[in-house]
Amino acid sequence: MDRLDVYKSLASHSNNKESFFLQLRSLPIDVIGDLMLNIPENFPEVRSLLPTMAPDQIQKNWNGSSGYDLLLQSCAFMRTLECGINRYSGRSLDNTKVLDFGCGWGRLLRLLYKFTAPENIYGCDPWDKSLEICRESGITANLALSDYLPETLPFPGVTFDFIYSYSVFTHLSERAALAAVTACRKHIADDGLLVITVRPRSYWEVHPSSQNDKVVKSVMLSDHDTKGFAFTPHGEGSPATVNGEITYGDTSITLAYITENWHEWEVVGTEHFLQDQYQRLVFLKPKLR
Ligand SMILES: C[S@@+](CC[C@H](N)C(=O)[O-])C[C@H]1O[C@@H](n2cnc3c(N)ncnc32)[C@H](O)[C@@H]1O
Repeated sequence: MDRLDVYKSLASHSNNKESFFLQLRSLPIDVIGDLMLNIPENFPEVRSLLPTMAPDQIQKNWNGSSGYDLLLQSCAFMRTLECGINRYSGRSLDNTKVLDFGCGWGRLLRLLYKFTAPENIYGCDPWDKSLEICRESGITANLALSDYLPETLPFPGVTFDFIYSYSVFTHLSERAALAAVTACRKHIADDGLLVITVRPRSYWEVHPSSQNDKVVKSVMLSDHDTKGFAFTPHGEGSPATVNGEITYGDTSITLAYITENWHEWEVVGTEHFLQDQYQRLVFLKPKLR
């Protein structure tokens, strides 16, 4: 099926939102990602139901790349996520209630349309700018502002089958990371999973000094080896400053650290994808009380 046929087939379902999204779910994820990159103007009905793409500069600011390069990475992550969820929970991602924790401009939220209906898709982020961009793009999902040091998630009474968090724990301080996993634990189904990405030790070899020029590589490597958690905050003026404490920067975490410090979660598996070797997926199962 070529692009034009895909748009035509979607347009033929556009008078019924439910049937439109059902039709969308029948397509391969890469096709879904591709068609949302730039929906032709002569398909206004498709354009009105799907989000517009964030400008390149926004994509670069949040994710370091944009356009096709970023899309290939995003689709690869979603396939790795789907595969790992299947392997480590024995469940399918299809038709489940899913939260994107730290959703940014909605890069991955829109790819969830492959798996589940928009009413089952949730995204939160503590930076109001992220949510503003999601809303401006017209993403159909449940969106809410979370806290930098959350006690709970901004979706009262909602239990998620799966929560994933890409390129968020790669940035959180020790306190923010613990607060986040503790808040997520309150909202996860007993047979659900939390999937986060973490940076490995080797990240510090390529860490750009422009990010935080005071960082001393040997200190990060030593913290990683001795504590299992290495964190260097981004500069002052970061929106992630709570009572003078910067909760956001660059972080590496070991599996041993997670096991020893996040008592409500059990590491059940890891995954890796070559499109971004510094984002290792860790699959966490809630310990039952
Ligand atoms: C590198 S961006 C990744 C965005 C998105 N997950 C993606 O992969 O496109 C990091 C995101 O984490 C958000 N963030 C910062 N501190 C956070 C926290 N304490 N809890 C959850 N998200 C946080 C930022 O606002 C930002 O949107």
